[in-house]
Amino acid sequence: MSRKVIIAGNWKMNKTVAEGVALVNELKPLVANVDNAEIVVCPTFTTLSAVVEAAKGSNIQVGAQNISWAESGAFTGEISADMLKEVGVEWVIIGHSERRQYFGETDKTVNQRTKTALAAGFKVMLCIGESLEERENGTTNDVVKTQLTGGLEGISASDMENIVIAYEPVWAIGTGKTATPEMAEDTHKACRSVVADILGQEVADAVRIQYGGSMKGANSKELVGQENIDGGLIGGASLSAKDFSELIINAVG
Ligand code: PGA
Repeated sequence: MSRKVIIAGNWKMNKTVAEGVALVNELKPLVANVDNAEIVVCPTFTTLSAVVEAAKGSNIQVGAQNISWAESGAFTGEISADMLKEVGVEWVIIGHSERRQYFGETDKTVNQRTKTALAAGFKVMLCIGESLEERENGTTNDVVKTQLTGGLEGISASDMENIVIAYEPVWAIGTGKTATPEMAEDTHKACRSVVADILGQEVADAVRIQYGGSMKGANSKELVGQENIDGGLIGGASLSAKDFSELIINAVG
C-alpha cells in the first residue's frame, strides 16, 4: 500500500504576517524539487491570507490551526469555514493537544469541527495522542482508541479520504523528547487497527498517519521510514525554512 508522505508545519502562535511570508518565500526554492511528499504550512489566522498568496504556484499548501463547528454567530474567538474558504485554505488542524489542554477541546468538539470542515470541503489533520502519565501507566492504546472512536464518530469511509491522523504523544511535543521510531511505529499500528475496526481494513490501509513531537532533520528519516508512519506534523522545526526543508528532504529525499 503506497501512501504519499505528508509533512505539515504547525506554526502555532508564531510568525507575524511579514515573518510568515518571508519564511514561505525562503522555503519555496528549498523544497521546489520535492515531489514525493505533500508539504503544508499552518500559520495563525491573521497570516493565512498573505501566506496563501505567497505559496501560490508552489508545491506548498496552506492550512489553518482550528475551525468552528458552527456556521456563524456568537462564538467569540472562533473562525468559520466560510472565512477560511474565502482566504483559500485547503487544510485544517483539528484537536491539537494544546487545544485540548488549554482550550477545553474534547473528542466531541473535535468530531463536530471535523464534520463541519469536511462538509465545507477542507482536508483535516485530526490530532490525537497520550500524556506522559498515560504512557507511563500503559494506557496509550486505550487513549488513542477513545480519541479516534470519538473523533471519527459518524465519519464515512469516503470522508476518510480527506482525513489524515496526526499521532502526537503529548510528552514529546516541544520537549525535545521524541518517541523512538519503534515506540511511534507501535502506536501508529494500533491507530491503524482502530481505524480498521471502525471503518474496515481498506480504509485503514489507505489513511495516512503523521507523527508529531520533536521531529527534526536528524530523526525524520528514521521516523518516516517506519511502515506505519506516513509523515509528520512539525512544530518547532517548521519555524525556520532551513530546518523545515532539511527535515522534509531527509525524510523523503
Ligand atoms: P514540536 O510540535 O515539533 O515542536 O514538538 C509538534 C506539534 O505540536 O505539532
